[in-house]
Amino acid sequence: MTLQERDKKHLWHPLTQHKIHPDALPIVKAKGALLYDDKGKEYIDGIASWYTAMYGHCNDYILNKVNEQMQKLDQIVFAGFTHEPAIKLSEELIKILPQNQEKIFFSDNGSTANEVGIKMALQYHFNKGEKRNVILALENGFHGDTFGAMSASGLDVYNGPFEDFFIAVKRIPAPTQENIEEVLSLVNEIITTNNVAAFIYEPLVQGANAMHMFDADSLNEVLKLCKANQILTIADEVMTGFGKTGTHFASEHIETKPDIISLSKALTAGFVPMAITSCTVDVYKAFLDDTVGKAFFHAHTYSANPIACSVAVAAIALLQSTEIQDNIHRVINAHQEFDMKITSHPKVKSTRQLGVIYALDLNIEMDRYGKKRYQIFNHFMDRGVVLRPLGNTVYILPPYVITSSELQKIYDTIEELLEVV
Ligand SMILES: Cc1ncc(COP(=O)(O)O)c(C=O)c1O
Repeated sequence: MTLQERDKKHLWHPLTQHKIHPDALPIVKAKGALLYDDKGKEYIDGIASWYTAMYGHCNDYILNKVNEQMQKLDQIVFAGFTHEPAIKLSEELIKILPQNQEKIFFSDNGSTANEVGIKMALQYHFNKGEKRNVILALENGFHGDTFGAMSASGLDVYNGPFEDFFIAVKRIPAPTQENIEEVLSLVNEIITTNNVAAFIYEPLVQGANAMHMFDADSLNEVLKLCKANQILTIADEVMTGFGKTGTHFASEHIETKPDIISLSKALTAGFVPMAITSCTVDVYKAFLDDTVGKAFFHAHTYSANPIACSVAVAAIALLQSTEIQDNIHRVINAHQEFDMKITSHPKVKSTRQLGVIYALDLNIEMDRYGKKRYQIFNHFMDRGVVLRPLGNTVYILPPYVITSSELQKIYDTIEELLEVV
């Protein structure tokens, strides 16, 4: 039996209607920006495997560090115990996070990072004797698939069957220069009629919302209003963190810094799952008390797994290296040049870029999960390029180490698509 046949026997894939799409493509090997299937065909990973493998797949530097760590300590309960990789990671991360961040809490994935952030914010007010039970979030945001994170997310296709079980969320449009007055008055109205605990937002780029980008100054106005009303702000940097927007974190582009930051994906460079929720010392202090019950009773078995922490320490060292920073700027410049070339193509409706994230909307009507979307996906796959269009949006978020010729091949397949679509 082939891998594909064996897969079909027992496996249930995420985000997949198996009746329509029964086949998954077996990938047997990956290196740098390249993936290889079971027939030896090569693919350029144009989205860094959902924005994780930013330093390249099976990165040798990280591999060596993981190997060393694996010989020393594999796993230890993180309640009541600690270890060097977690300590080192906290030290290195605090050096590069926005200055107000002081404390690091571990979990397993982007959803749990946000779940933790939301629970921290709710309990922060609870511990201070205030009942604040509403979360403010952006329309069409995406924060993950656990209940709190899903409640805060505004994408219908994910939420339909579960809406009756959500925590209370009020939504505002992503703020822009055009709508900012409207958004601020909506926030004011929500604040006066609800007990808002926290505002959760993807800073500047809403990934799952087809890489929708919005404006730092307008977001800053909303953040200022939240701060003035003691509403904790949670920046979901699960996608934007670790260099994607050109700076280490997207929050660096915005004057007002968040109280809480969620991190995952590139944190562990595509090697193993892990997530972090960082916060200010003010948030942390609300949990310090003589009563045990005021502590944060949230834990995952693999919290701060030493192997995952050693990956993250190595990844942060790479992020700060001249080589990776040069690569980031090379990709940013290449995107800009490509944009100049195609932006006025009749099949291109609009384009946008922040850092290494580049997106274009095709000038055609289509459903997010319709047949046409799969035709476009196959156009890329046939040519050995992995890009996953979101509706009529084609976006690139490649590993920083992608070579110029690999990047050029992605651009060429997009240009070809514009001729045939
Ligand atoms: C901004 C954002 N938040 C949260 C998540 C959820 O992360 P995970 O899939 O690791 O649970 C994602 C995943 O794509 C994301 O893009």
